[in-house]
Amino acid sequence: MRIAWGITGAGHLLEASVDVLKYIKDEGHDLSIYLSGAGEEVLRMYGLFNKVKNLTGEGYYNELILERDQELSYPMTGRFSLGKYDLLVISPTTSNTIGKIVNGIADTLITNAVTQAGKGNVKTLIVPVDFEAGDLETVLPSKLELDECQQCEVCDAAEACPQEAITPGVEINLLKCKGCGICQQACPYSAIAGGKKITIHMREIDIENTHKLFNFDGVKVLSEPEKVKKYLKKE
Ligand SMILES: Cc1cc2nc3c(=O)[nH]c(=O)nc-3n(C[C@H](O)[C@H](O)[C@H](O)COP(=O)(O)O)c2cc1C
Repeated sequence: MRIAWGITGAGHLLEASVDVLKYIKDEGHDLSIYLSGAGEEVLRMYGLFNKVKNLTGEGYYNELILERDQELSYPMTGRFSLGKYDLLVISPTTSNTIGKIVNGIADTLITNAVTQAGKGNVKTLIVPVDFEAGDLETVLPSKLELDECQQCEVCDAAEACPQEAITPGVEINLLKCKGCGICQQACPYSAIAGGKKITIHMREIDIENTHKLFNFDGVKVLSEPEKVKKYLKKE
């Protein structure tokens, strides 16, 4: 199959999405990966950008397509209105992107892809982060725990960071962080947490928006990226 997969700026379900992308590639499908601007940033923060990049790069319909290269009219998404893909998957999908889709807004790479897929009859699978009401456990990128930080005169973690992303005793600049985890090993006081779990509360408006998506023609809403596998057909 010729598959397009969009990633938005969500940390939740991100690793599970990348696992399914790898599976799709291993199964021999053509795979174009579309990243929203935030999707690119967040992939880097979780140390997953290169893994995703390495799943593409083999030429036509196997490219990594970045929002920042597409300017304002997103010409690459014309592929969807022309029906060039067999399937579009968006996973993970942020509350922001779901909110725009259900209100007919197309002003990012991913919202344009979904809009044009609707016009070109390309089947679309969407995996929203906000699926069910209630609390959700999710994973953070690297985080400096100030309670553990000993304010050392020389911060080993900051010295070791190849991106110079750490302001000692203050914070990690996540826009510089590439999620390599070197800082976690370098700090003798384990003051940098990687993959810390936190509980977040799903907002009612985001759950409502996800429910609106259930009635969209040509769109199927899935609770987890793994469920995409059911829609893959062997060549
Ligand atoms: C580390 C990190 C993790 C994030 N995780 C989520 C998330 O799980 N769900 C969500 O809706 N937004 C999340 N965001 C916020 C989105 O990235 C932000 O709303 C962004 O504007 C979404 O843009 P997009 O929908 O075009 O990708 C996260 C931001 C950061 C910095």
